[in-house]
Amino acid sequence: MLGLITTLNDAAPVELRELPEPQPRRNEALVAVHAFSLNRGELRSVRNNGVGWVPGQDVAGVVLKQAEDGNGPPAGARVVALTDELGWAQRVAVGSHRMAVLPDNVNFAQAATLPVAGLTALRTLRHGAPVLGKRVLITGAAGGVGTLAVQLAAHSGARVTAVVGRPERGAGLRELGAHEVIEDIGKAQGRFGLVLESAGGASLSHAIRLIEPKGTVVVYGNSSVEPTTLAFADFRGAPNSRVQSFSYFYSEAEERFAPDLALLVALIADGSLRPLIGAERSWREFAPVAEQLRDRRIVGKAVFVVD
Ligand SMILES: NC(=O)c1ccc[n+]([C@@H]2O[C@H](COP(=O)([O-])OP(=O)(O)OC[C@H]3O[C@@H](n4cnc5c(N)ncnc54)[C@H](OP(=O)(O)O)[C@@H]3O)[C@@H](O)[C@H]2O)c1
Repeated sequence: MLGLITTLNDAAPVELRELPEPQPRRNEALVAVHAFSLNRGELRSVRNNGVGWVPGQDVAGVVLKQAEDGNGPPAGARVVALTDELGWAQRVAVGSHRMAVLPDNVNFAQAATLPVAGLTALRTLRHGAPVLGKRVLITGAAGGVGTLAVQLAAHSGARVTAVVGRPERGAGLRELGAHEVIEDIGKAQGRFGLVLESAGGASLSHAIRLIEPKGTVVVYGNSSVEPTTLAFADFRGAPNSRVQSFSYFYSEAEERFAPDLALLVALIADGSLRPLIGAERSWREFAPVAEQLRDRRIVGKAVFVVD
């Protein structure tokens, strides 16, 4: 089968190569991958994991062979799945507890946006639960996680302030449920019960000064790669507020992956969640799309079709 492997060549960071077929374990299904998405974190791991590695966490496709232990979707089921790696290939082995069946009206490209970004949006918001009536501020709101988090927060009854880098990046965020869209976190007015922060650096130090008493800043990324200084005085005006670190992978038990993925696909199916796909291209056109994502030129998610 074919798969994309890392090269450490910036002009062509991955290339299509012939790879051995996956050998599923007893609890793993064999899935034919139809689409996958690219995460900002994967741009880093493509560089950091050396030559000859097959990346890929977010896949959507069709089960070719059910897990041998009899669990999970049967052969023929259309699914979305979360893998640790190896997903950028024609076929991948995935734990049956890490996939959800797709309703007929959810396509592979939409589903492929969900695993890392959707689980992150859903689970970071849970740190502020209930968000009904709360003011929620989301940095990186035009990104993969951000565009999903804006919608899930608004759908849950929050009043969402979306922070984007440039005015054009905010196009469409109000339609997704944002109450206001600002181009600089420094322009945010008042305090917030929950902040989802992924830019880091000055954005994070500002976010901490925007939190309300007993509120939470969820720190789930550092896209700027800038450090943040922190002083006790920053919490003045917000006693007992919290800075919560977050990893989508370790945030909840393994067996929660399937139900959370099922929840996200159900929200797409009933029209409550609309993944924004800023680029949908063949997996043979990886390099230019990866460059656009790195340069903050993709709104929402970048999806690749395994054609
Ligand atoms: N902890 C976890 O479990 C977890 C899970 C998923 C993602 N993450 C991290 O969360 C962040 C967001 O992920 P994503 O997949 O949504 O990424 P993405 O699609 O690239 O979105 C990131 C957004 O951040 C904004 N941004 C602000 N300052 C930035 C900077 N200095 N450099 C780059 N972008 C900047 C960009 O929007 P503007 O250009 O409009 O500012 C962009 O839309 C990444 O850092 C990622 O590694 C962590």
